[in-house]
Amino acid sequence: MKDVLINKTFDILMNHSSDGIQVLDQDGKIVLCNQKVANLDGIDIADVVGKHLLDIYPSLNPETSTILKVLENGELIIDAQQTFTTYMGKSITTVNTTIPIMDGTIVIGAVEISKNITEVKKLSEKLVDLRSRSMSKKENLMDHGAIYRYEDIITEDDKMKNLLEISKKASLSDIPIMIYGETGTGKELLAQSIHNDSRRKDQAFVAQNCAALPNTLLEGILFGTVKGGFTGAIDRPGLLEMADGGTMFLDEINSMPMELQSKLLRVLQDKHIRRIGDTKLRKVDIRIITAINTDPIKAVEQGSLRKDLYYRLNTVMLRLPDLKERKGDIPLLTKYFMKKHSSNRKTCFKDVSTEVMEIFMKYPWPGNIRELEHVIEAGVSICDGEIFTKDYLPYNLVESIKYEDYKEDEMTLGQKIDKYERDIIQMSFITNDKNVTRTAESLGIPRQTLQYKIKKYRIL
Ligand SMILES: Nc1ncnc2c1ncn2[C@@H]1O[C@H](COP(=O)(O)OP(=O)(O)OP(=O)(O)O)[C@@H](O)[C@H]1O
Ligand SMILES: [Mg+2]
Repeated sequence: MKDVLINKTFDILMNHSSDGIQVLDQDGKIVLCNQKVANLDGIDIADVVGKHLLDIYPSLNPETSTILKVLENGELIIDAQQTFTTYMGKSITTVNTTIPIMDGTIVIGAVEISKNITEVKKLSEKLVDLRSRSMSKKENLMDHGAIYRYEDIITEDDKMKNLLEISKKASLSDIPIMIYGETGTGKELLAQSIHNDSRRKDQAFVAQNCAALPNTLLEGILFGTVKGGFTGAIDRPGLLEMADGGTMFLDEINSMPMELQSKLLRVLQDKHIRRIGDTKLRKVDIRIITAINTDPIKAVEQGSLRKDLYYRLNTVMLRLPDLKERKGDIPLLTKYFMKKHSSNRKTCFKDVSTEVMEIFMKYPWPGNIRELEHVIEAGVSICDGEIFTKDYLPYNLVESIKYEDYKEDEMTLGQKIDKYERDIIQMSFITNDKNVTRTAESLGIPRQTLQYKIKKYRIL
């Protein structure tokens, strides 16, 4: 019975996996492959089992095939990029994790799990080409990529004013700057302002979010590639080359794979880059601004940010405060966004009701300034009166602060218990980095119960 269950589970995993799975024996013959692999390659499972890998994939060879390499040396490969041509002549790029199957010290086979990234690769390359084309049209200044300036950063907060003073001084030099702030606190806005206030303002501002691309693609996108057989690459400059003379803004730097971080460190030290597959070094003059949305010291401790790179990048560290740390800015920002989003409208608000302002001051703004801007933009878009009242606010925002409106001694026992429970869940949710599974574990309640309560109490 147990065997049947295991065998059936194995079949289910093979056939329902979103990744391609292939198993080779020690002679390089295909023992197993799932439907995903078959679909990708336009082959029939029955036709390939028992055949040698290179008979099925003539465009690969023992050097370029990740699975043959693993059979040869018995060493695990994680997330390696491989490009090959299918039977039908289609060029496919996959990211492979390949694991040797050992019998003692002898390699008796290998399993390969592969993700098809062909379309993502094409799209990201198209994007680089488009950026490169728009940047080469130097006559169009807007195309250099940065539109915001310091004047666009609205604040009356002392902490922010100090930070902007330091930032303005740093803008004038070429030293690296690291911006640390939660989502929506204005990191991109600040990075662009730094660029536009620097001697590089007429040159390119190139931004790349390191978390937005699969790891294997990021290297090619940043460093560029030269024509090379097995990676399927063509001659293409990377973003770092495009930023030559200007500024490169690397967002979510802690999502950059470790090896790439050390390559970036070398660029910072040597001021040269080498395209992937190239022998030539190219000189570049780039100012690097990085951004991170978690505590950089923690990122170093947790191993997502290299210590040496961190010390190189944090010469100037600018920490953007959360909106809840500078609530004094809320009235000013509210007015500013109301005006900004009313400009094309006939009817628009003249003022904000006291009740709305009270809600704004109480609300914790987890999405920071972006969230405030969206709330106001949404209100303005349905404006049909002179005053921005509570009716224009999203339901969940008003609901989420409902429990804070009561005074403890006016509450019923049920309300008090609810508030107590909400506070405990909220606290645990934050200390567990908003991870539902971990929060449920630490509170000792089932995940579903927690999800229900998160909804009930509108915990964000
Ligand atoms: N001080 C400010 N004054 C005016 N607008 C601001 C300010 N800070 C942020 N904004 C606006 O808030 C929005 C979010 O800012 P931005 O994209 O720079 O945030 P971010 O920190 O990069 O967020 P994320 O981490 O999610 O990428 C933008 O529309 C920006 O113009
Ligand atoms: Mg951003």
